[in-house]
Amino acid sequence: MPLKTAVLISGSGSNLQSIIDRIEQGVLNAQITLVLSNKSNAFGLERASRHGLKNKIIEHASFRSREDFDQAMIKEIRDSGAEAVILAGFMRILTPLFINSFPGRILNIHPALLPSFPGVHGQKQAADYAVKISGCSVHFVDEKMDHGPIIIQAAVPAFAQDDPKSLGSRILALEHRIYPQAIQWLAQDRLRIAGRRVEIQNSPGPLLVGKDKDSAIICPGLEKNF
Ligand code: GAR
Repeated sequence: MPLKTAVLISGSGSNLQSIIDRIEQGVLNAQITLVLSNKSNAFGLERASRHGLKNKIIEHASFRSREDFDQAMIKEIRDSGAEAVILAGFMRILTPLFINSFPGRILNIHPALLPSFPGVHGQKQAADYAVKISGCSVHFVDEKMDHGPIIIQAAVPAFAQDDPKSLGSRILALEHRIYPQAIQWLAQDRLRIAGRRVEIQNSPGPLLVGKDKDSAIICPGLEKNF
């Protein structure tokens, strides 16, 4: 049975697209039961419609408190039948109420090598700091922002001439590969959380991909077709 998921977005939804594509290719055994956006102008809503996916806007600004907003989202997610929640560029802090409603079933992707540069400007902070390596991380969500146990990371080179956009696009290309893979491991029930550690049953060894400026290391590695 495919893993029923709700995908939460706030913007372009390119990660949502990579998940849709992998599902449609028959590589990722998941079903998107709902795409939820807190922004009415999120392009990801258009992507969802194009693929016939149920989508809904719940604007955070129309709620009195974070809890009220989260409660409305919890209801929509539950009504859709989703068993897991995928944060794909969802730019709101979730309350414990939300996190405890889907224990061990919420994933997030962040455009930096956590624990470096958490928050909303991961790519900009990495470029401004002039790091030599940056990347992206998929992790379980806990009560602190961009903090929970890490499932997979990809590292890319960063260059002196990089700006947030050029570094960000190199990172984004890797986000589109590691996120569907992490969701597939969740769908296959191969992830176990032990404190900060995520054990992945039969996880592949580290994988080197690309060449020169487009090279990356992904750990654990990707399985076939990811
Ligand atoms: C992605 O780079 C994602 O990692 C980031 O927002 C972008 C959304 O792009 N998320 C965060 O910064 C979370 N702290 P997308 O809408 O095209 O998927």
